[in-house]
Amino acid sequence: MAKKFIQDLVNQMTLEEKLGEMTQLAPDFLGIDPNMDLTGPMSELHIKEEWLDNIGSTLNGFGAEKLKEIQDKHMKASRLHIPLLFMADVVHGYRTSFPIPLAIGCSFNPKNYELASGIAAAESAASGIHLTFAPMTDLVRDPRWGRVMESTGEDAYLNSVMTAAAVRGFQGEDFKEKGHIAACVKHFAAYGAPWGGRDYNTVDLSEGMLREYYLPAYKAAVDAHVAMVMTSFNTVERVPASANKWLMRDVLRGEWGFDGVVISDYAAVDETISHGVSADGAEAAEKCIKAGVDIEMMSLHYLNYAGKLLEEGKLDIALIDEAVIRILELKDALGLFENPYKDASAEDEKRLHQCDEHLKAAHDIAVECAVLLKNEGVLPLKENMKIGLTGPFADSDDLLGGWTAGGGKADASLCESLKKAMPGAEIVTAMIEELNPMQDGFFDVADHVEEACEALRNCDVIIAAVGEHCADTGESASKTSLRLTPNQERLLYAIKKLGKPVVMVVFSGRPMEIYPVMDCADAILQGWYLGSETGTAIADLLAGRVNPSGRLSMSFPYNVGQVPVHYNMFQTGRPVNGKKGRYLSKYLDCPNEALFSFGYGLSYSEFRYSDFKVEQSDTNADTAGDMPVAKASVLVENVSEVTGKETVQLYIRDISAQVVRPLKELKGFEQIVLEPGESQTVEFTITKDMLSYWNNSGKFVFEPGEFDIMIGKNSVDTEVSRVTIA
Ligand code: GLC
Repeated sequence: MAKKFIQDLVNQMTLEEKLGEMTQLAPDFLGIDPNMDLTGPMSELHIKEEWLDNIGSTLNGFGAEKLKEIQDKHMKASRLHIPLLFMADVVHGYRTSFPIPLAIGCSFNPKNYELASGIAAAESAASGIHLTFAPMTDLVRDPRWGRVMESTGEDAYLNSVMTAAAVRGFQGEDFKEKGHIAACVKHFAAYGAPWGGRDYNTVDLSEGMLREYYLPAYKAAVDAHVAMVMTSFNTVERVPASANKWLMRDVLRGEWGFDGVVISDYAAVDETISHGVSADGAEAAEKCIKAGVDIEMMSLHYLNYAGKLLEEGKLDIALIDEAVIRILELKDALGLFENPYKDASAEDEKRLHQCDEHLKAAHDIAVECAVLLKNEGVLPLKENMKIGLTGPFADSDDLLGGWTAGGGKADASLCESLKKAMPGAEIVTAMIEELNPMQDGFFDVADHVEEACEALRNCDVIIAAVGEHCADTGESASKTSLRLTPNQERLLYAIKKLGKPVVMVVFSGRPMEIYPVMDCADAILQGWYLGSETGTAIADLLAGRVNPSGRLSMSFPYNVGQVPVHYNMFQTGRPVNGKKGRYLSKYLDCPNEALFSFGYGLSYSEFRYSDFKVEQSDTNADTAGDMPVAKASVLVENVSEVTGKETVQLYIRDISAQVVRPLKELKGFEQIVLEPGESQTVEFTITKDMLSYWNNSGKFVFEPGEFDIMIGKNSVDTEVSRVTIA
């Protein structure tokens, strides 16, 4: 039931004022930032000047003084003095930038996502932001899609844990509190599964696959009380999400009980016309309002056509009133009716933005997100070495990754950071010209390979800092090739021939196709884009000041022809399982498995697993879903000379069910830090819910039977015990 003052307000509002509340425009239209770079297909917006006073929210305007000025102007112009809601894409940091979410997923440490989101909330709130379009939690299995960088990866359980942490970080206990902002989980739903990895392309999944893999993390956000949900551009069962009543009203609101605001993605209401399910703007407005999209972002069909639809009896005013009430309730929950500026403060901007405490947090998180993929005795680097440093990321500070709301660059390049981390080393650089974006028509760095080899041939070790330009990741950045550019590969082949140890550091927003150059490097560190402290974090890891602990949140393919390749595949009717033969589910030219699988990562320590056991509890068919049915445990020992962090992972497999079940599914993980020689028993409680799944009747069911319980250091190296659960 809406608060009386909100109901009274709605009763006073004209239809135009209501439809204005249900419309979000970019800053250009509200005079915030005339240079705003508009994303998405910018259809001609038939906007009327008088509408501007009624617009309910805007996106991606920044700055305390600027937004306070806009709010003042709007509050005066709005007949009922309804405050504007300022929303923005604060995805992995604001002025202090944190690792891209795909990298944060590799830390397997939800506290990192909670802390990063909390700092991003405080910094952006000081700049006048009320709500962020984050966390993005689209499950991703296809690195051709550029937006994998925004997700925490390929696993529903890891994504769920991480997403809930991000919502808690942004919103705190109450997002009205100073330093917190409302969060918006996106993109609902399954935007991460486009055909061919091509952005905005068709998504077509069975309801069972949707419920089992793609929906859980959005539900985790709803269960964490996320304030808003953003619809995705793609179709779900051949209906664009923004017009999909089943998804928005039956699942999101009906099954999950979400009673917050639903916003369309950028012009997604208008795009239902291009999709071919709306004949025109009027039908687009009708279908999306009926589907429950409360705010139309960056298209104007609600304002243009809802009045006519009401007159023609095609729309019920009650649907409009319920949307407006939800929007006003969100503004009230943010305290905007009492304080329309919320936390906007130029003084706090100066105090908080990139303050030492935030930069330290960014560094401490970043070092947990890089993943050591290979190390044949080369890392950590030794003091007083002559270090060769080459490649387009050797001295670049363009290391934040996409969606950097606050803009800016990393605080230091890898070269500058190595000089600080290893003062005794001599550093020689060669062929360090930075990449330019393919988006801008560029493709490769110039070929100075011969000169580089000449300059580096007497070094003790050569570091090749390679990858893809961050502008070639993120939205509308799909690729059909995941390989490094030809001259980067040529450089790696050439330095390999110098006969010196080679360390390859890969800066990318996606799993790249590094198999072709794998043998050129004795060590490989997946550096992602780690935000403001990328350079210092990577240098500390290479120098051994920090022990790598990252584990992959997304599998690396041998080559793009394998995609989608992920750890939780189905067995099929013709599994290879070590068999030889022609008529098996395999490729003639490539293994089935990933090059590096989900959960994989090395460290400078070495951990030995032993004493694995599974003990069953007394259970019967009507044991409640959250009741323990078994316990699994393993002894982990650090058999090296280096203190290290290990992520012990729990997987299960349902051997037989009404539908095919994956070879393994992550159901738990625990991080432990062990001193040299120290050991610890790690124990997991297995519940019935962990062994349940979504059947093809839309039900979450448990079926008694045989299950494999597995514990391991990644999704491949696991110990297994088969149990029968009644
Ligand atoms: C974009 C993105 C979405 C973002 C929105 C507002 O097109 O798909 O993630 O939040 O527009 O910038």
